[in-house]
Amino acid sequence: MPLLEIDNLRVSFTTADSDVNAVNGVSFGIDKGETLAIVGESGSGKSQTAFAIMGLLARNGHATGAARFDGQDLLSISKRDLNKIRSREIAMIFQDPMTSLNPYLRISDQMAEVLMLHKGMSKRDAINESAHMLDAVRIPDARARISMFPHEFSGGMRQRIMIAMALLCQPRLLIADEPTTALDVTVQAQIMQVLSDIRSNFGTAVILITHDLGVVAGFCDRTLVMYGGQIMEEGPTDNLFANPSHPYTSGLLRAVPRLDRDDAKLATIAGEPPDMSRLPAGCPFSPRCAQVLDNCRAERPLLETDGTRRRACHLPVHEVA
Ligand SMILES: Nc1ncnc2c1ncn2[C@@H]1O[C@H](COP(=O)(O)OP(=O)(O)OP(=O)(O)O)[C@@H](O)[C@H]1O
Ligand SMILES: [Mg+2]
Repeated sequence: MPLLEIDNLRVSFTTADSDVNAVNGVSFGIDKGETLAIVGESGSGKSQTAFAIMGLLARNGHATGAARFDGQDLLSISKRDLNKIRSREIAMIFQDPMTSLNPYLRISDQMAEVLMLHKGMSKRDAINESAHMLDAVRIPDARARISMFPHEFSGGMRQRIMIAMALLCQPRLLIADEPTTALDVTVQAQIMQVLSDIRSNFGTAVILITHDLGVVAGFCDRTLVMYGGQIMEEGPTDNLFANPSHPYTSGLLRAVPRLDRDDAKLATIAGEPPDMSRLPAGCPFSPRCAQVLDNCRAERPLLETDGTRRRACHLPVHEVA
């Protein structure tokens, strides 16, 4: 049984103008200790998928389907049970660590509080354990620096502190939503290394949400590509990168800068992401797809499984450019 199993998840928002269909029937699973990337352009429904799982949708949002964690459906359990799971079993980190760190409290106090509250530790033990966790995310001189305030750290270090904080209760699943987007490339690589360490050291499963395919390669076991609130394709990362089976994935990959290629040829996908309140009847990518067929506009392709790969596309696999 997967650690987390999402079944036909839909998320919609009611607004004054229209209903926004942000996630449209998404199903996937993640196993213990596995690393799954969710990629796609801005607005494809990546964050709302995570927010729905965590019970963090905005007030005008509504989720249907199921998200079973260890067999318990997070979408239908009581607020109390959900809180228990959220504080101990599943942790989430966001793009901007300053939104989650309290600028007026020392890191030691913020971290220790988590352990005192959820694990009933004494303050002294909690601070020791917190410093240990800062070590694990490679904060130099953690014991001394733990008594500093958030603004005394660089952006990359603050992101590592967030990761350390998320890991304090040793969750079985960590959801990281664009954890490196605000950081420069070198620091990005350090954060990815930290996430990789925690997977090997603690066996934590990780869902990494990003629009940057460059950070996914070499880190994630599996990659799931979203567009228009749907899964376009999914597969083992290496395999999917080497042989994309969907024109959208191909397009995304052509837009990733690579050292072995002339960057002047870097291609962006023409056109704009869809308006989620007016999705086309057929494939959501059809208006921008360079290889569109007649029935792509009329009929939404089903997500079909072939071995370890899944894809939703009318075009025969071998014709994907
Ligand atoms: N409270 C809300 N009310 C109405 N629409 C919303 C609300 N929150 C999100 N949306 C819409 O849901 C869609 C999916 O958003 P989501 O945040 O999941 O995108 P994303 O894939 O995470 O993009 P990004 O890479 O920019 O973070 C977007 O069209 C967004 O405008
Ligand atoms: Mg997002």
